[in-house]
Amino acid sequence: MIRAFDAAVAVGDTGSAMRRLRSALCDAIHAGNVRLPDCVFEGRAAHYARRELYRSPEHDYCVVAMTWSPGQGTPIHDHAGMWCVEAVWQGALEVVQYELREQDGTRYRFVPAGAIHAGAGSAGSLIPPHEHHTICNASDTDLAISVHVYQHPMTRCNVFEPTGGEWYARDERKLSLDN
Ligand SMILES: [Fe+2]
Repeated sequence: MIRAFDAAVAVGDTGSAMRRLRSALCDAIHAGNVRLPDCVFEGRAAHYARRELYRSPEHDYCVVAMTWSPGQGTPIHDHAGMWCVEAVWQGALEVVQYELREQDGTRYRFVPAGAIHAGAGSAGSLIPPHEHHTICNASDTDLAISVHVYQHPMTRCNVFEPTGGEWYARDERKLSLDN
C-alpha cells in the first residue's frame, strides 16, 4: 500500500495524485491484504482516536488511522491548508462539507454544502480551499475506522464552534496521537 502511495504522490498535479491515492486505498480495502495494527480497532471513550501509521521519509506525507466509537465526531474543521485523502476502512461515516461564505475577524459564516454517507471501501479527497467539513460515525452501535493520507504531518488545525445561526468562532486545536 505504501508503494502505491509513493507512486501516487510522485505524480505532478494534485488532482491526479488524489485520484491515485483514493484508488490505492480502495484497492487495499477491497483486496483485504493489508492489516492495520491491533490498536486501531480499539476506540477511546473520551474522543475519537488518532494513530499515526506511517510518515514518508521521501515525500513527507503522513498516514493516520482514526477510530470512531458510536456518537463520536468532529466539529467543523480545516486541514491547515493541506490536501488529504480519507477512506473508510470499516463501518460508515457521515461527512458534511461546508462552504465558507463570509469572515469577520475570527468569526466565520458557513453553510452546509452536501452530506455524504461514506461506507467501508469508499474514499474522498479534500483540496484547499474546499477543506471545511465535519465527520462523525454514522452508526449508533458499531465502531468506524478511517485511514487518512495528509500532504504533511498535521499537528494543528482550526476548528469552528457554532455561536448562533450560520456563524462560528475559530479556535486553533493542537492535534495529539493516541497509543
Ligand atoms: Fe478532516
